[in-house]
Amino acid sequence: MSEFNRIDVLDDGPLVAEGLDKLDNSKGDDLEVRKKVALCRCGASENKPYCDGSHKAISFIDEKN
Ligand code: FES
Repeated sequence: MSEFNRIDVLDDGPLVAEGLDKLDNSKGDDLEVRKKVALCRCGASENKPYCDGSHKAISFIDEKN
């Protein structure tokens, strides 16, 4: 088990998670666990749940900004 878990919400970008012990998709399938992973929150990634940088191409803007 990791010593810490952290999720950062990047402005106009993905969620960046560190220290995950487990990651599942919406179907309950286990996904590769990486030390640090960027998760899409714009909906445009071609590699969901991971961010592939598409948020820049669609000029994703966080509505909180
Ligand atoms: S947040 Fe980066 S592709 Fe969606």
